[in-house]
Order: sequence, then C-alpha cells, then structure tokens
Amino acid sequence: MKMWGGRFEGEPSKLLRALNDSFAFDRELFAEDVQGSIAWAHAIAECGVLTPDECETIVQALKSVGQAPPPVPQDTQDYEDVHSYVESKLYELIGPLAGKLHTGRSRNDQVATDLKLWLKHAAQEAVAKIASLRATLERKAAAETETKMPGYTHSKQAEPITFALWCRAYVEMLTRDLSRFHDAIERGDECPLGSGALAGTPLPVNREKLANVLGFARPTRNSLDAVSDRDFAAEYLFAATMTLSHLSHLAEDLIFYTSDEAAYAELPDSMATGSSRMPQKKNPDVLELARGHAGRAIGELTGLLSVLKGLPLAYDKDLQLDKEPLFRIRAVLALVVPAIGELISGLRIHREKMAEAATSDQLVATSYADRLAAKGIPFREAHEIVGKAIKAGTLHELDVK
Ligand code: ARG
Repeated sequence: MKMWGGRFEGEPSKLLRALNDSFAFDRELFAEDVQGSIAWAHAIAECGVLTPDECETIVQALKSVGQAPPPVPQDTQDYEDVHSYVESKLYELIGPLAGKLHTGRSRNDQVATDLKLWLKHAAQEAVAKIASLRATLERKAAAETETKMPGYTHSKQAEPITFALWCRAYVEMLTRDLSRFHDAIERGDECPLGSGALAGTPLPVNREKLANVLGFARPTRNSLDAVSDRDFAAEYLFAATMTLSHLSHLAEDLIFYTSDEAAYAELPDSMATGSSRMPQKKNPDVLELARGHAGRAIGELTGLLSVLKGLPLAYDKDLQLDKEPLFRIRAVLALVVPAIGELISGLRIHREKMAEAATSDQLVATSYADRLAAKGIPFREAHEIVGKAIKAGTLHELDVK
C-alpha cells in the first residue's frame, strides 16, 4: 500500500527506494506509532470524522496490529517506513476504512510524536539504569570509608584520600547526569500531534486531551517548530554522551587501579577477559569498551547536531537521519551502564596495598607543609622547607609535631 503516488506515472527507482525507505530502522518506533495512531483515531472521532463504530473498528484493529512484531528488514521491501507499515496492516484487517485514519494528520507530526514518545521512554530507561549504578557506587563507598589510598593529580601521587571519596566523586557525576535527563524529559514533554505537515490540522482536535492521553504534559504551541524540532533528540544524545564520558573517566581510573603496577584492586573474574596466547592475562575489556563507546557517542552527537543545523523550516527529509544514532546510543547505554555496575559490585579492593601506597613520603608532603604552617611558618616557606627535605631525603627529620 502506497501513501502517495497519485500524481506520479512511473514506479520509483530501486535506488530511490533504497535511499528513501526507513522501515529497516524506524520499525523501532512501531509501538509508539500504534499508540499515537490509537490516540489520533479517538481525537478525530470526537471531531465527527469517524462514527463511534468506525473508531472502535480502527482502534481494535490497531491494537491487534500492535500485537505482532513488525517483520525484520531483510524479509521485506514492501514498506517505506513504519507509518506506512502500520497503515498497510490496518488496511489488511479492515479495508478502505483504514484510509480515514490519516485525516488531518501528516507523517511529519506523526514521526515527531513517535520519536518524542520513544525518547521519553529511552530517557526514563537511562534514568533507571544510572540511578541503579549510582546506588551501587554509594554501597561501595559505604563499605570503603576507612580505605586509604593515594589520590592523584596529573597521574602523580598527590594527597591521601579514601576509596569512598573516589566512589562518591562518580556519584556526583551521575547525579548531574540524572538531572540532565530529567531536564530533557521536562522540556521535551510536549505533544506535536495536531501540527499536521507544518501548518496545523483543519480538524477542531482537542490537543490538550490528545497530549494527556499520550502521556505528555502539554501540546506544542507552534506547528512549524513542532514538526522540525529535534532538541529533545539532541539533548538526550548529549546527556547520554556526558554519562558515557563519565564512565570512560571511571574506566580509565579502574584500568590503572587494577593494573599489575598499581594492583590496588582486582576485577571480578566474571567481568574480565583472558588472552588466547598469554595465559596469565586478566584483561579489563569491559572498561576499555566503555571508554571506546564514549568516543563513538561524541561522534553520534556531533553527527546529529550537524544534520540539524541550518535546515530550512519546516520538515526536511534530512530529519529521517535523526533516528539511528538515538537507537544505537540507547542500546549502548542499556549495556554499558549496568555492566559497569556489575563490575563495581564485584571489584575486589586490596586494602593493604592501597594503605601502604597511601603512606609514601610523596603523599604526606602537603600535610607536613600544613603542619609547619600551623606552627606559624608562612605556608610558602613551609612548602620550600618540605620540598628541600624531600630532595635531601630528610623529610622524617622535620619537626611537625
Ligand atoms: N520516515 C520519515 C521520517 O522518519 C517520516 C516522515 C516523512 N515525511 C515526509 N514528508 N516525507 O522522517
């Protein structure tokens, strides 16, 4: 079933289809498309476009369409996109009545609505997974409040800290990540349906009610903006990239802490990999993949922003390319965040090794300078005295009592 073609004589080229069709990936929006269509059927029935019976027939048929998962892409070239797929299936079930569903609607407001619904679920999923990782880090911190270790700046031993302080640094980062996802959800919580192709719908649709039925806080206000706005997509992608960047940061620390050289901690067997050649190896692949995924996420984010910049209002087909980076990043987050959680839970901390490293001359230097300063020596002078003593190997002869 074609959604357009009345003014065309020939068939579309195979190359046009290969480039233009999006069903291979936008089938991911299937559940949201069915949900949006059911809400639209009710909304236009209230305007008198459908009789109550017709509405009931369409809604029941849409529900049954929604039961069966859409076909996998290589099996079919029959559908242009998920919207035409749903309408075709509806047509198979109820015939020409299916054609009334698209009254007053465009795929432009439809896809914007589907994507926002999808993004909201994706952002809520991210929130749940990040909150759970944060709880894991809080538990780890609670268990290691007395665990002294060297703190680093510039990868050089700086001052003693506890492993709990390290855990809680990531708790702070994840707390900001959560607030970014919440902000994005809040700002994106507007329903575009009823914006039509760009100029609104001719039907007196109750858009407040439509928005509420679909779980949005309110309808969008400007139809031109509503069909072209992808801010929510960019914000989701940024929040996800920032989270992955924090996890990459964490991965980098743990790769060092679990290295043969530092040996402050050991990876759980279930979260490490071996080598096909070197029997002794226990590799931090999970951490390295988290770090690698952060790099790719930055590419996805800049890719999307580049697609969006400078598009003429309103809908342009460039916007079809907004989806795959979002789908990919959701899958990455759903895997990486809990994997890091499992790794942290199982991480074995070598407390003695950490404590021993935390008592080196390097690490007490600053507190020696502080103690001299407490006796009334200007801090600049105290700094100089301690620096010289370190160089001369006489640090412990200093009177810091
Ligand atoms: N598959 C399209 C997309 O993802 C749906 C919107 C099509 N609209 C249009 N005017 N061709 O953006």
